[in-house]
Amino acid sequence: MATRNKAKAMKSRPKAAGKRPVAKKTAKSQPGRKVVSKRAAAASALPKPSSKPWGQAGRALDGVRILDFTHVQAGPTCTQLLAYMGADCIKVERPGAGDITRGQLRDVKGADSLYFTMLNGNKRSITIDSKHPKGREILDRLIKHCDVLVENFGPGTLDRMGLTWEHVNKLNPRMIVASVKGFGPGPYEDCKVYENVAQCAGGAASTTGFREGPPLVTGAQIGDSGTGLHLAFGIVSALYQRMRTGRGQRVLCAMQDGVLNLARVKLRDQQRLKHGPLTEYSQHGEGVPFGQAVPRAGNDSGGGQPGWILKCKGWETDPDAYTYFITQAPIWGAICDLIGKPDWKTDPDYATPPARLPRLKHIFATIEAWTKTKTKFEVMEICNGHDIPVGPILSMKEIAEEKSLRDTGTVVEVDHPTRGKYLTVGNPVKMSDSITEVKRAPLLGEHTEEVLGKVLGYTAKEIAEIKASGAITPPEKPAKAEAA
Ligand code: COA
Repeated sequence: MATRNKAKAMKSRPKAAGKRPVAKKTAKSQPGRKVVSKRAAAASALPKPSSKPWGQAGRALDGVRILDFTHVQAGPTCTQLLAYMGADCIKVERPGAGDITRGQLRDVKGADSLYFTMLNGNKRSITIDSKHPKGREILDRLIKHCDVLVENFGPGTLDRMGLTWEHVNKLNPRMIVASVKGFGPGPYEDCKVYENVAQCAGGAASTTGFREGPPLVTGAQIGDSGTGLHLAFGIVSALYQRMRTGRGQRVLCAMQDGVLNLARVKLRDQQRLKHGPLTEYSQHGEGVPFGQAVPRAGNDSGGGQPGWILKCKGWETDPDAYTYFITQAPIWGAICDLIGKPDWKTDPDYATPPARLPRLKHIFATIEAWTKTKTKFEVMEICNGHDIPVGPILSMKEIAEEKSLRDTGTVVEVDHPTRGKYLTVGNPVKMSDSITEVKRAPLLGEHTEEVLGKVLGYTAKEIAEIKASGAITPPEKPAKAEAA
């Protein structure tokens, strides 16, 4: 999609686009024939279906080039997904330092951390000092050669670099500029934000945890990775729209908004509160009145089918010997038979979902007496035999060792020149005609010369001059190592 593909794209563009008005005219002049709809005309403008075998026609985002100005987690998680889909992600990093996460939570001395390597696979790394005049010149050239600029700097940083929307749009009107910020426009827009701040500001923390305890953050990075995922969706949509409009646009994902989107069921419950108690919350069954706002619901299911986490065999010593158990209404009879309570099927106190709601605590305690006699995997096997939805609480150790996740490419082992083999999470989205090959994260500046020469067209002499200018190399007197 970037300039380099123009010739190819023009060549393969079907002539149909130019013929559309003719098709309409013909339809009008022949009564009884359908007028060609815009949609049909658009479809006819698509290339012919590929005759290549499935999975061998390239990847979904082949030809899309990303100027990846991201750091830490929220931005890199977005661009890594785009890279998994085939986009050429050129990660711009500060010479000598790079993304701060390269050195954070380091486990292997001298090697890039897992924090960095697990969020920057399939990318190329180029070092550019964005505050150096020559560096700015290179960035401008990159802008002309890329389709999307993705960044998650603190508010105002990109503008301070001189890369305002106006500047970028003038250089490359087709460029999409995509940003993650902590908050959208409003009183907090200038605030820097990290994961847990977003979890708190997006409504997740106030609704997570136990009623009698403090608000709780969750281990899943819904603020960072969740927002990165939202941003990736925005970018792909903008690329699609650009096919019609021919122009780029700004895409903004505020972490607060992303978290709220994931916590939307809690905003649902906030509104339901006006009309009475939330009967599916176990506090209702316990006779505890509701306050003004949605309470923390412990391990309640959050949906219409009550559920809870129950102990399994070995819970006394294994912190993860638990299962999630859902008492889905249609299979209530099977549950009763399994736990040795067949009379509950007809007992008016237990036979219907509304009758069960005030008794959930007792019901789950009874089911737990049964699950405690089985391992979490036995519970899984037995219950699924009866169509009862349950979920073993898997530890990260178990997930890392799970064969089926390796088989599907969700957990992938890659090799790295300085840290050796490590596990990463592959593409969670599986596509039948766009196959992801997970590659290791780049070393700092590993592709600087390659990008300068092959992408931006600098000659060897020019590259030598750029090097001598200090625009792509660490300063003589290194700035205080942020990443140590
Ligand atoms: N060359 C020269 N300078 C560079 C550079 C490069 N290649 N890349 C970055 N920098 C500079 C920037 O110009 C900026 O300097 P300035 O403050 O003098 O303008 C600085 O490095 C980076 O600033 P900032 O993004 O604010 O980093 P920070 O470490 O102070 O804050 C965050 C980190 C994450 C809190 C902040 O970036 C932020 O709020 N981001 C938006 C929300 C977000 O994504 N949060 C989740 C992160 S996982």
